[in-house]
Amino acid sequence: MKFFIDTANLEQIREAQDMGILDGVTTNPSLMAKEGITGKNNILKHYVDICEIVSGDVSAEVVATDYEGIVKEGEELAELHEQIVVKVPMIKEGVKAIKYFSDNNIKTNCTLVFSVGQALLAAKAGATYVSPFIGRLDDISTDGLDLIADIRQVYDNYAFETQILAASIRHTMHVVNCARIGADVMTGPLSSIEGLLKHPLTDSGLEKFLEDAKKLNS
Ligand code: E4P
Repeated sequence: MKFFIDTANLEQIREAQDMGILDGVTTNPSLMAKEGITGKNNILKHYVDICEIVSGDVSAEVVATDYEGIVKEGEELAELHEQIVVKVPMIKEGVKAIKYFSDNNIKTNCTLVFSVGQALLAAKAGATYVSPFIGRLDDISTDGLDLIADIRQVYDNYAFETQILAASIRHTMHVVNCARIGADVMTGPLSSIEGLLKHPLTDSGLEKFLEDAKKLNS
């Protein structure tokens, strides 16, 4: 399972990268705004800065919603760096654009996916990644993990190569359960990754080992 971090915060990206387990980064306009990045040139530079920290795929989202606009914006983003993946919303024009990008060897991440039907369309169009938002489904009393399981089944039925990128991860158990179900990738905040480290028996066991280690030299 690939681990992506879902942030535009360079410090957090560096921290995850330093752990040696990071495979990529996802961003969206809300995450960019949270970091106070404004103006086209600053936004484009920020994507390049992220690419220079990590060695894997970096999703950069288009804001155009018409086919020509998505293609133009996506091509500009893809030219920034070889690690850029063009993030395209699950709308009719987006599906058309994903097909264009796929035919032109530009990697895509189909975002805002909330149903198996949408995931099927993204795969048919040749998306590199599909992003089902599990946290946002949980927020409205619908089990987001069920969607991951259903997409896994459909993709396996037809050996689709589109990778399931479990997005809108809110906590560590989302990560663990996505791994159980077979999501190819998860993208979440740093806290959801660091939560995987925690176990009280590890803490108490280490404390005892260190205490006994002192006796070895006395
Ligand atoms: C992923 O690509 C999305 O940007 C992100 O996971 C959305 O998460 P949220 O629902 O916590 O905003």
